[in-house]
Amino acid sequence: TYVVTDNCIQCKYTDCVEVCPVECFYEGPNFLVIHPGECIDCDDCVDVCPANAIFNEDDLPEDKKHFLALNEELAQIWPQITDQKDPLPDAAKWDGVAGKLEHLDK
Ligand code: SF4
Ligand code: F3S
Repeated sequence: TYVVTDNCIQCKYTDCVEVCPVECFYEGPNFLVIHPGECIDCDDCVDVCPANAIFNEDDLPEDKKHFLALNEELAQIWPQITDQKDPLPDAAKWDGVAGKLEHLDK
């Protein structure tokens, strides 16, 4: 599966949603996640994310491995998102900021 990681938080550009052939993204207030049981590993979302927040689970850096379980958990409770929308208003300011997990809203 593919995994959305910390740099999506407070950005939520949603370009990923537009390209996903199986609509396996789920949306929270300031973060998106991928449903691991629905992702077909097409790889299309990786290059379109302006925040470079999406990884194949096999390529997750050591300090992002916990995002796999977080995607799985939140995909069960958040609603599906099927259409691209505007990024969060301060997306450009937050892009690349370290330690964004503490800002995650559930
Ligand atoms: Fe969707 Fe493909 Fe990305 Fe999986 S890898 S989330 S199927 S676009
Ligand atoms: Fe997040 Fe990147 Fe998608 S910032 S909403 S994973 S395009």
